[in-house]
Amino acid sequence: MSNIGTYDERRKNFDWSISEEELEYKPENVINIGWYCSDRICQMGKADKLALIWEGFGGREKKYSYNDIRLASNTIGDFLQKCGIKSEDRVCIFLDRIPELYLGFLGILKIGAIAQPLFSAFGDESLLVRLENAETSAIITQRKHVGKVRKIIDKLPHLKHVIIVDHDGKKPLKEREMVFSLEEAEPVENLKIYPTKAESASVLHYTSGTTGLPKGVKHVHYSLIGQYLTAKWVLDISDDDIYWCTADPGWVTGTSYGIIGPWSLGVTQCVLDAGFSADAWYRFIEKHKVTVWYSAPTAIRSLMKAGDEVVKKYDLSSLRHLVSVGEPLNAEAVVWSEKVFGRPFHDSYWQTETGAIMISNYPGMKIKPGSMGKPFPGIEATILDPETYNPISQPGRIGLIAFKPGWPSMMRTYWKNEETYKSKFVNGWYLSGDRANIDKDGYFWFIGRDDDVINTGGHLVSPFEVESALLEHEAVAESAVVSKPDEVNMEVVKAFVVLHPGHEPDDDMELNIMNFIRKRLSPLAMPQEIEYVESLPKTRSGKIMRRLLHAKEWGEEIGDTSTLEDE
Ligand code: WT7
Repeated sequence: MSNIGTYDERRKNFDWSISEEELEYKPENVINIGWYCSDRICQMGKADKLALIWEGFGGREKKYSYNDIRLASNTIGDFLQKCGIKSEDRVCIFLDRIPELYLGFLGILKIGAIAQPLFSAFGDESLLVRLENAETSAIITQRKHVGKVRKIIDKLPHLKHVIIVDHDGKKPLKEREMVFSLEEAEPVENLKIYPTKAESASVLHYTSGTTGLPKGVKHVHYSLIGQYLTAKWVLDISDDDIYWCTADPGWVTGTSYGIIGPWSLGVTQCVLDAGFSADAWYRFIEKHKVTVWYSAPTAIRSLMKAGDEVVKKYDLSSLRHLVSVGEPLNAEAVVWSEKVFGRPFHDSYWQTETGAIMISNYPGMKIKPGSMGKPFPGIEATILDPETYNPISQPGRIGLIAFKPGWPSMMRTYWKNEETYKSKFVNGWYLSGDRANIDKDGYFWFIGRDDDVINTGGHLVSPFEVESALLEHEAVAESAVVSKPDEVNMEVVKAFVVLHPGHEPDDDMELNIMNFIRKRLSPLAMPQEIEYVESLPKTRSGKIMRRLLHAKEWGEEIGDTSTLEDE
């Protein structure tokens, strides 16, 4: 029997107090995610149980019990406190998927500070805007990434400490830099856990929108109530499972379900920090006997591409439940996984802003391949008419996905951007910014985003951010960035570029521009294609019409062009 039992029954009788009671939380009590994910599990008699099995490049392996992660997070928390970090200070984690990332995350939360995880492949410009906006006090990083911090540190007066976790003691440190080694530090047995309350800030995740700077999504400690129960009911993880979430904690899946969900449930989880290949992934599942696997459509499509034969080389019979998130999971991928793994991938839908899974296919529920499934019990979801913002009752009609506010893990604001936060609510609904329809059985079918944000391999990229970075390139006069179709990543970034006179629109220039963006922003934001144009389509008021370029890439109807300048 699955943890959720029967979906319809759960929906009928649902109250979030189910989660509060299991976590022995009472309103007004202290609630600290760092404590819940380590100390509490130890107190429940699981101190010696494995919390983390970590594998790096070359098969390097480290294992941590719940007592180990309790001590390690205490030690990091204590170190930060001694640096002068106080509650609500932002501490950025800028690390590959090494154990310090996971342990540091808990340590930051234990002292009441706010964890700001950032994807370690981010370039200096991506890093700068996010640290600037959050007025981050400290950054925890590795030797190999410290160069990016050095490049921008003069622009960051708030950043007091650059903490390097793998310094070899050789190269001299620069101003504000310091060394912390988990292996060498004296373990801190007792750390005073900061008495955070339900509404105390916990995590700040940056997400990209169509316009403006990336937005800092503020979450609070009470989000645990949602993450715990969704991990239990949707991912179906229990005491005996070996769980693998393939997401990087630079993104919300990697924190909500790569740290908080599994560890608050006291489950053993694995982390692989060694890149992607079908062989490496299957070997990892076989070796650690992974039972529950949370991954993403781009990875699944890459595995599909690698073929069925490679699957047969490994014993993957431990797999029991498979879940996917981040982008549309095509029906073929569901059917394929059923064929080769004997289990279908269950799609789940949510956002950085929602903090936890909102719509999903539940264990035991009939899957309609290609559908996202149904709202989590306790979540009221609907489709709104894009004109009137009233719920649409006819099955199959496309509208905007919206949720009734008030679930525990919902964002509390955008950091220093209350105005944009408020603009997300209309007629008492939270607008997701996505479009879908609901069929007659209540299943949600994803249609697309309602904005220009590019979802490449499950990662959101702002066309505005790429365009702004392109303009910093000496050869670029103007640019417009849209998505183009891609077999594996679904969408990739494409840039239309007008060059300044005197610059050659050739292959060298294309590579040069691509690399420029990769280094400044990230490999995800790097255009996979650059098309040189003489001019860009604009409205009479001078706004670039991305919609037109987008339609061309996707072979779609161009629609209303009555405001086009050249007409
Ligand atoms: C956007 C949120 C929270 C998970 C990681 C992404 C798209 C997410 C699905 C799905 C189709 C999906 C939406 C959403 N998305 N899940 N199952 N099917 N699209 O978090 O970076 O905040 O992105 O990802 O467009 O709004 P995120």
